[in-house]
Amino acid sequence: TLWFTGLSGSGKSTLAFTLEHLLIHKGYNSYVLDGDNIRHGLNSNLGFSDSDREENIRRVGEVSKLFADSGTIILSSFISPFSQDRQLVREIHEKNESPFIEIYLDTPLSTCEERDPKNLYAKARRGEIKNFTGIDSPYEVPTNPELIISPANSLEVSANTIFDYLVDQQILDLPE
Ligand code: ADX
Repeated sequence: TLWFTGLSGSGKSTLAFTLEHLLIHKGYNSYVLDGDNIRHGLNSNLGFSDSDREENIRRVGEVSKLFADSGTIILSSFISPFSQDRQLVREIHEKNESPFIEIYLDTPLSTCEERDPKNLYAKARRGEIKNFTGIDSPYEVPTNPELIISPANSLEVSANTIFDYLVDQQILDLPE
């Protein structure tokens, strides 16, 4: 399981989809879970209170573990703002002896807010959305992620950095 964490607009899902493409091209089975496919289905009963986020991440963690069991490289892309919730997901994987790689997208709030692809930061600033991460809801920066991805690097470079890490750590065998 590759766990992408960072602010909304930090580029988590874009990078996850780029890596998924790269992995599938190299012959690995890979799949992205993100807010779009999870929050509209499995977790459609959850909002953005602290406790709903906790439950969102717990469920995604369990689903990720099941995908990992099936032999899929699962790329889970969620803000997952709370260290404790990310730690729980890590423990779910450790108990299962499944590798868990936390990848922090280190994109500053100012950049995410400039990008504002869904116009949500503007709404949050106007008070039209409450509990928005980075505005009036916290994001706890990971203290010990396996990888930190800087927005200065291209998508291709970042995806290859992650792939090389997986090979170096012998989590993936080099494709034939
Ligand atoms: S998490 O905090 O529970 O991990 P998740 O990654 O599933 O969040 O969903 C985040 C996405 O939901 C954001 O990228 C944004 O598009 C949307 N969203 C809607 N309301 C909020 C909010 N209050 N805070 C953060 N993201 C929100």
